[in-house]
Amino acid sequence: MEYVIGIDLGTSAVKVLLVDRCGHVKGEWTESYPLYQPHSGYSEQHPEDWVEKTIVALRKLLEVSHVSPDSVFGLSFSGQMHGLVLLDQAGNVLRNAILWNDTRTTEECREIEEKVGRDTLLSITKNRALEGFTLPKLLWVKKHEPHLYQQAYTFLLPKDYVRFRFTGQIVMEYSDAAGTLLLDIEKKIWSQPICDILGIDTRLCPPLVESTAYVGTLLPEIAEKTGLSTKVKVFAGGADNACGAVGAGILMEGRMMCSIGTSGVVLAYEQTGEKDFAGKVHYFNHAKPDAYYIMGVTLAAGYSFDWWKRTFMEDVMFAEIVKRAYASPIGANGLLFTPYLVGERTPYADADIRGSFIGIDASQTKWDFARAVMEGITFSLNESVEMIKESGKAVESIVSIGGGAKSKEWLQLQADVFAIPVEKLKNEQGPGLGAAMIAAYGCGWFDSLEQCSEVFKQVELIVEPQKEAVERYRELFAIYREIYSQTKEITRKLKDFRN
Ligand code: XUL
Repeated sequence: MEYVIGIDLGTSAVKVLLVDRCGHVKGEWTESYPLYQPHSGYSEQHPEDWVEKTIVALRKLLEVSHVSPDSVFGLSFSGQMHGLVLLDQAGNVLRNAILWNDTRTTEECREIEEKVGRDTLLSITKNRALEGFTLPKLLWVKKHEPHLYQQAYTFLLPKDYVRFRFTGQIVMEYSDAAGTLLLDIEKKIWSQPICDILGIDTRLCPPLVESTAYVGTLLPEIAEKTGLSTKVKVFAGGADNACGAVGAGILMEGRMMCSIGTSGVVLAYEQTGEKDFAGKVHYFNHAKPDAYYIMGVTLAAGYSFDWWKRTFMEDVMFAEIVKRAYASPIGANGLLFTPYLVGERTPYADADIRGSFIGIDASQTKWDFARAVMEGITFSLNESVEMIKESGKAVESIVSIGGGAKSKEWLQLQADVFAIPVEKLKNEQGPGLGAAMIAAYGCGWFDSLEQCSEVFKQVELIVEPQKEAVERYRELFAIYREIYSQTKEITRKLKDFRN
């Protein structure tokens, strides 16, 4: 048998998958690493943790799968987006990585929109300046840690850094570069005008390659530590959302996906980079060469559910929480939740907003609260579904991946709230499968990612919306939508009380 490996470098853990030529997952292993949140709004990780844990995960993967290292032909990466990894000339990391869910850069976002101008920024990058993106983080370091900025030789995104340590090659690929806010996404070049206006030396920007590009083979030291062969071919890989889209077969017009991981994403395929969505949705290069996607992001989707469990139901298993929450009626006995635990991106782009429970009543139980959390996350994702529908896309169904696809109850909730059929995949493995597909295509097993998807993507179940539930949710969603404007000022005033 011949295999490829997909490495998904997530926010809480790295997950590695061993996949055969038919798309069957022969083995998997996950290793987690810590997240550092020294202040409210800060979110950092040690890049060395990513490298060490990826090595451990690969070694374990080979052990549990009992395959010969020579049967692994290629590997590729999917990675959490936007995180800033600053390197000096010798390739040393200059500071902790500042992650996608770090919101310290509101001032820098304002500076970008003022100096570059919102229209120019949109015409080049197709996106608004949001705290999570990489450019504001670079400006933050320039302003607050000038001694480090002066030593910077280049910057990378999280999975690019791990790939660099594995191969010795410094490159960034388009799907992740699009999330830096420095890329001219249509022309696929670093934007000289943006760099000039903001005083950033373009020499900091690494060479760009396609997601499917062959980057090199494993360094002997990495091969030895992981147990893999030095002949394993390494392909660039993609942003986690782009790889999730590849894995879910979002490779042509009309295809849409909902991913509930730490963050939640609703994503639709776009053939060109020439449209204008006025910055309402993110508009990025796909991992499929010369294709694009649009998406809306709920910053704390799975994260809200994790927070709920960690804070109030630590000893209860996730499956049990979902089951008991789902037994509570639609609308959780009159309780609504907004998942703005770390601010929000779509549709509000507001780093200061915070979440709320509205309608607390003495009759409610903790299971009603858990249901409200699940519904609130799904409503937030529905804001993005609605925007994509309004953009004129004819969407017949949506593929659900990530934590939200793991339970029948949450799949039904998505179908009822989105009011469209929801597809669950058989070998659903999130972005890691997309990364494995990039490696499979790179190894020459298929002529295109679409051809690979025909073999790898298998639909297990289609969940249809239930008419009555759809009606109830339509009413509730309208109420949910009022909460943002009504709580915006109140939660902003509470900012000084947070640590
Ligand atoms: C997308 C985003 C998140 C991260 C999560 O813009 O910030 O979905 O990619 O890893």
